[in-house]
Amino acid sequence: MTPARTWIIGTVLTVIVAITNIGIANGASDGAHLTAQRWSFDGIFGRFDRTAVQRGLQVYLEVCANCHSLEYVAYRNLTEIGYNENQIKAIAGQYEVEDGPNNDGEMFTRTAQPSDYFVSPYANAMEAAAMNNGALPPDLSLIYKARAGGADYIYGLLTGYEGEETEHSVAEGLYYNPYFPGGAIAMPKPLYGDDVEYADGTTASMEQEARDVTTFLSWAAEPKLDARKKLGLKVLLFLIVLSALLFASKRKVWRDIH
Ligand code: HEC
Repeated sequence: MTPARTWIIGTVLTVIVAITNIGIANGASDGAHLTAQRWSFDGIFGRFDRTAVQRGLQVYLEVCANCHSLEYVAYRNLTEIGYNENQIKAIAGQYEVEDGPNNDGEMFTRTAQPSDYFVSPYANAMEAAAMNNGALPPDLSLIYKARAGGADYIYGLLTGYEGEETEHSVAEGLYYNPYFPGGAIAMPKPLYGDDVEYADGTTASMEQEARDVTTFLSWAAEPKLDARKKLGLKVLLFLIVLSALLFASKRKVWRDIH
């Protein structure tokens, strides 16, 4: 094989490996084996499905937000998933935040503004643990990144409860879930399938809600994913064109010497 051919094959292989590797899920967790789901944001051409992210926001606000905070996401960030200013004002306006001190040195409560971060259901971590039998519901802003398995793990966890008939016995106040490392989790089954009435008319089911809220939490942890992938594609394209140009000029320079 000529060096030129080896070089071309090498480049092509590198690009293929680079493309196929992006989107492979990160390692396995300690819990039951996760089924790999297809996510709209998988792979190099993957993008967040906006309608799913919006439905997921609804599931988060109506179900998960009763117990979990989302402290790194501000209401105004919702512009990135297609909400306009008035819609965001309306969403934020349903919550109250503590602010202050005012001129008299007193703290006061006011309606949340688009610039506020998602309001936590608890005043502090101690209250959060106290209200959940001593188990602290983790903040969900970065949970997609913080757990091995990412989206597949969150989806597996939410759909993995076995209900009353489970043969597995766990301690009082805990629930059996094979996907949770150790198998016994302090979170009661959160989704049943009739938890929300979707604003966009989609029929709710447990799987649908779990998929949507997982997509939403993935966006919350990786809001710049789409932009990053777009840039990555541009860079790849640029490198391919540059390689072709360099190769052509190399042939031209060496033509008379061979
Ligand atoms: C009744 C309160 C409650 C509700 C509602 C609730 N959770 Fe939880 N959640 C908890 C508690 C408590 C824990 C901590 C469990 C533990 O450490 O055993 C937890 C833990 C988790 C974890 C982390 C599991 C891990 O690997 O550590 C995820 C992810 C999660 N919840 C997602 C959700 C989602 C998504 C929703 C909404 C569909 C939701 N939760 C609704 C109470 C709740």
